[in-house]
Amino acid sequence: MTQRIRHPGLAGKLATAAGAAAHIRPGDTVAMSGFTGAGYPKAVPQALAERMERAHAAGDPFRVKVLTGASTAPELDGALAKVDGMELRMPYQSDPEVRSRINAGRLEYIDIHLSHVAQHTWFGFFGDIDVALVEVSAINEDGTLVPSSSVGNNKTWLELADRVILEVNRWQPDALDGMHDIYYGTALPPDRQPIPLVRADQRIGEPYLRVDPAKVVAVVETDAPDRNSAFSAPDESSRRIAGHLLEFLAHERRKGRLGDRLLPLQSGVGNIANAVLAGLAEGGYRDLEAYTEVIQDGMLRLLRDGVLRMASATSFSLSPDGIAEFNDNVDFYRERILLRPQEISNHPELIRRLGCIAMNGMIEADLYGNVNSTHVAGSRIMNGIGGSGDFARNGYLSVFLAPSLAKGGAISTIVPMASHVDHTEHDVMVLVTDQGLADLRGLSPKQRARQVIAHCAHPDYRPMLQDYFERASAEGFGRHTPHLLGEALSWHQRFIETGSMRG
Ligand code: COA
Repeated sequence: MTQRIRHPGLAGKLATAAGAAAHIRPGDTVAMSGFTGAGYPKAVPQALAERMERAHAAGDPFRVKVLTGASTAPELDGALAKVDGMELRMPYQSDPEVRSRINAGRLEYIDIHLSHVAQHTWFGFFGDIDVALVEVSAINEDGTLVPSSSVGNNKTWLELADRVILEVNRWQPDALDGMHDIYYGTALPPDRQPIPLVRADQRIGEPYLRVDPAKVVAVVETDAPDRNSAFSAPDESSRRIAGHLLEFLAHERRKGRLGDRLLPLQSGVGNIANAVLAGLAEGGYRDLEAYTEVIQDGMLRLLRDGVLRMASATSFSLSPDGIAEFNDNVDFYRERILLRPQEISNHPELIRRLGCIAMNGMIEADLYGNVNSTHVAGSRIMNGIGGSGDFARNGYLSVFLAPSLAKGGAISTIVPMASHVDHTEHDVMVLVTDQGLADLRGLSPKQRARQVIAHCAHPDYRPMLQDYFERASAEGFGRHTPHLLGEALSWHQRFIETGSMRG
């Protein structure tokens, strides 16, 4: 037994990464931990990739179906993609190797709402789960598991898998013990009951994951860091986007639609989200709450400064500097951070009840407020929908943010018709670009289009969009949501053919 593996039976299952990987068979569905570059298994996927490479060299195809919480890191997604070891990936990825194989048509990818993953697996929509491969930070004397730096779908994976492989990562801080809230009260219809969470800071579950020790086939010890890249400092465009949003929040407070403490915040990751968080600090806010997916560096700062009172999420997504800050002040953060399963962090019932303010990035939006978060020019996947739909559809406010231009100005992120729709006009309330903010609440389609063109489009593209809208309104087949269908997507076609929407 070691200090981190305190259950005698499970200590007896210690194995090397290669030994553990030998329990995975070609064609298996392997459900892994991991949500952003946090809490994913770090040794067994690489050993599995080596085994696959040898099998492929010998002419034996060896691929598995990989389910996770969300994106992971090069040691998992990158390693398996490089050896063409995945036949299917679900539910979210942001890895360049995985992305290029999906877009080359060599890897099937199922991009679903993160809140749906656990229940769809329970419903049996993805077939049997052969193996759960889950990183934990310790195994207790009674066999319960101290979760790692992300929870994701681990509860579901451990419950449903036939065989379980655990990676116990010594690198994860001891102090993670007690920071999790694992809710075991979910059930399938028609037996579902209300989830008894009415405040973002409420505990409704238990601190540990349960596992049937008899299902555990191997335990591997690791000492390897999580990997999340550092954010660059917010650029001018991100600062302007953040500025427009903060002005809007102040306006909502003046109107009495938001109080001084706003409502629980959900924020995507990335530079714009970071700039918004930094702006909240400058805006004099105090004692806010976050009910979100990911705790990023910016949130730690807000907690330290008292801008945030607490944060509920399913994962950390900290850069090396953020990890150092967390480790240096772990007792402080333990009191203020809760990590939950993603079926709870992203649950529509809870997001609706708490009234979250959902703030997410987008690839493009169209004149009427349909938002594309996932595909470039309609067919090339970027990352995936992640939790943006869970929060946008159910939040008190759903806000989408992006620079008005992409690819050095070759692309307008405001287009006549979105080339792919993740969030429909019915789910999108506010659009923000560096140019300004369009509040779409309470507006008809044509009223929305006028706002979007005037406030969000870049001046280089505004006349083209205005011209399209006027001609569509005069000549289109219908006047409710006017379009010239043949022309609408020619913007994207022009980009594909000439490298610029301007032609
Ligand atoms: N057309 C083509 N490419 C576009 C584009 C557009 N309209 N808009 C953005 N891009 C490209 C950028 O050029 C960049 O590409 P590069 O990496 O090759 O330079 C990439 O998309 C990322 O864009 P960036 O401006 O750096 O913004 P970001 O890091 O904030 O990402 C999304 C934006 C939409 C890709 C990202 O927010 C996302 O994946 N969202 C969906 C999931 C989500 O919302 N999660 C939050 C809740 S979990």
